Amino acid sequence: MQPDLATIPTSERQADRTAVHKTVLMCRPDYFTVSYRINPWMHPEHPTSTPTAVAQWQTLHDAYTRLGYDVHLIDPIDGLNDMVYSANGGFTLDGKAYGALFTYEQRAAEGPAYMAWLEEAGFDVHVPEHVNEGEGDFLVSGDAILAGHGFRTTLESHDELRSIFGREVVSLRLVDPAFYHLDTAIAILDDENVAYLPKAFDDASRAELERRYPDAVLVGEEDAAVLGLNSFGDGRSMVIAARAKGFERDLQARGYETIGLDLSELLLGGGGVKCCTLELRR
Ligand code: ARG
Repeated sequence: MQPDLATIPTSERQADRTAVHKTVLMCRPDYFTVSYRINPWMHPEHPTSTPTAVAQWQTLHDAYTRLGYDVHLIDPIDGLNDMVYSANGGFTLDGKAYGALFTYEQRAAEGPAYMAWLEEAGFDVHVPEHVNEGEGDFLVSGDAILAGHGFRTTLESHDELRSIFGREVVSLRLVDPAFYHLDTAIAILDDENVAYLPKAFDDASRAELERRYPDAVLVGEEDAAVLGLNSFGDGRSMVIAARAKGFERDLQARGYETIGLDLSELLLGGGGVKCCTLELRR
């Protein structure tokens, strides 16, 4: 017997969730390795496997292709271990791109490399004056931009963002070193809702999140510990870390389709699904 749709809250009916077509930029981890430590997840004393990283990254690439996304690729550069984390390569919206200016010198050369790609792809590129790590710390939520600061991206860059895009920019302060980029602490589910790890934010930011998203999915320690929030979706399907079981159940209960992947090798660099994804918005 078919369930009576009228008895299921509208917000939880999968059939009501529609996918927004996505265009993303990715970078194959051909030169991925962990040889320095710029976040607590990285342990240069432990070996990593580049072929495993490439194979796992390929599963993400294939998942996006199956979802019908347009996937663009930027050439990896020898010596730039972290270039696979394309989210940090910049921020795009309305055909404009705000370039990245990295905190650590080990990643500095990625800024110009991504800006050159974005320019070539037709974006109106704004060269940054202030340190910011792109979509790792800037996320679009409806008409607003959620902007992280505290570890990498500076508060000054939020003003730059505001003046380039003319959107509301909501500054959120990150306080837990394990969740050093906004996209490790909060996931965009669709235009209206988000999922987040409350303890990753200071009190004022948490209050702001509670006010804006009364219906948010609150993620627990276990899921956060596998970077479960570092996920990406189109409003209907969410690509997440397969090990984030609690988050998976919560998403399914709200009518999202989940696609669980194992990106454990890339987690050794401190990144997951979302880190490997830079959304291109024309
Ligand atoms: N090793 C990289 C770093 O520490 C990981 C970047 C993860 N990216 C992200 N968007 N959270 O910079």
